[in-house]
Amino acid sequence: MGQELTGRFATKVLPVGAQVPPDERERVLQQAGELIRAGQLVAFPTETVYGLGADATNASATRQIFAVKGRPADNPLIVHIERWERLRQVAASLPPLAATLADAFWPGPLTMVMPRSPQIPLTTTGGLETVAVRLPSHPVARELIAAADCPIAAPSANRSGRPSPTRAQDVYEDMAGRIPLILDGGECSVGVESTVLDVTTSPPTVLRPGGITVEMLRRVLGEVQVDPAVLALQPVVGPARSPGMKYRHYAPKAPAWLFEGEPAAVTQAMAAEAKRRLDQGERLGLLVCAETAAALKEVLPARGDQLVWRVPGSRQHPEQLAHAIFTLLREMDREQVEAILIEGVPATGMGLAVMNRLRKAAGYQIVSCHRPAYNGA
Ligand code: TXA
Ligand code: MG
Repeated sequence: MGQELTGRFATKVLPVGAQVPPDERERVLQQAGELIRAGQLVAFPTETVYGLGADATNASATRQIFAVKGRPADNPLIVHIERWERLRQVAASLPPLAATLADAFWPGPLTMVMPRSPQIPLTTTGGLETVAVRLPSHPVARELIAAADCPIAAPSANRSGRPSPTRAQDVYEDMAGRIPLILDGGECSVGVESTVLDVTTSPPTVLRPGGITVEMLRRVLGEVQVDPAVLALQPVVGPARSPGMKYRHYAPKAPAWLFEGEPAAVTQAMAAEAKRRLDQGERLGLLVCAETAAALKEVLPARGDQLVWRVPGSRQHPEQLAHAIFTLLREMDREQVEAILIEGVPATGMGLAVMNRLRKAAGYQIVSCHRPAYNGA
């Protein structure tokens, strides 16, 4: 689906970062706002990932998002607003906790699911009577919504199933020829998508972990439940609370395996599997924390061109891993590795969002590693 759309547009990439003079930046944002108002698609930066935006109130505009991404029609879009007052245009009523959550986390990477206003067509919500709403903190996202003067529906700006884009060049890779304009605001700071929280349930339910951690939500709300699909060990089949849970996601081109468990056991298992594959002559990608990279470099043979290392950061700082994982998965594609071995991290704090993405990226090929056996020495 959508293949025939390639080449319809000469896709422009226009910088809108701090280096651009204010007049020029304003001119570009106005032009982008006019495109949105005219029912066209514009990709833009947010603090999480790049979004593929259209007027959320215009069904034929949001239908194009599904076509261009190759996205199943039942997977609803997130609707972005730039100020609290615009929520009235998007939601039919405000769940009691919405204002508390907005005070604590908006603008920022929290998306709240609430009842849909009739102004938001069912095409945008994938046929649901609820709508997912977010007020991003990125200035370009907010200025674009203000310039367009309408709520903007925007999924991540990748082709469906691919890693989400965190740089304008990632968007270009997936969207060239399919959309008229990409706004280049540099690299996204968070690197994984927003937390999707259903505030129509009591207690509220995390449907997708993201930039606002469960621990942060619990500090404000007390009780918060996490949908079991978030850390599922296999794809969700049948109806899902959040339709996005059902679909293949974040996948690099090469098959990937995720090694989870106790760090020493993970290192041992990754070393053994890497050696086996290197001996078979495979070009291999390793996506590992700094600590494990150091340990593996001591035991793996130095096969420069056969081994592609990517080290997103320290295991102690899952936000560093969140910031880098999508970019590094895309780099593995560019490096044309034949297989990728990925190290898992504890699923707490930002680690929960990281592990949710990595399990999907690995297509649920999980290697569970236990403490090495006591050898009697
Ligand atoms: O950070 C983000 O959220 C980015 C940026 C662009 O804002 N957007 C994003 O959108 O990640 P997308 O379409 O890739 O993911 C939206 C997720 C999907 O998993 C979808 O199923 C869920 O939100 N969702 C949207 N509306 C929903 C609803 N009414 N009820 C339950 N889940 C919903
Ligand atoms: Mg997405």
